[in-house]
Amino acid sequence: MTARLLARDARLVEVTIDGVAQLLPDGVMLATALAAAGALRLRASPRSGAPRGAFCYMGACQECAIFVDGALVQACRTPVAAGMAIELRGAP
Ligand code: FES
Repeated sequence: MTARLLARDARLVEVTIDGVAQLLPDGVMLATALAAAGALRLRASPRSGAPRGAFCYMGACQECAIFVDGALVQACRTPVAAGMAIELRGAP
């Protein structure tokens, strides 16, 4: 349902997730777009290896930190843009 709502009015743009081409809605915050696409686990805890994913969706918790184009970003504060290279490797 969420994916359909996001995609209905949004233009889809091509990004890569771990090197695989995917379509995500342009301008939607990356954490939201990834969750709608089924990617709830964004990374692994460096201490325990436990799965981590977006929690607050407002820039406070840091749980959505992922690498995009080689830089560490907060996925909940980063809008989807064409050509992004998103890295979720290490997410369990
Ligand atoms: S989900 Fe909390 S900082 Fe991004």
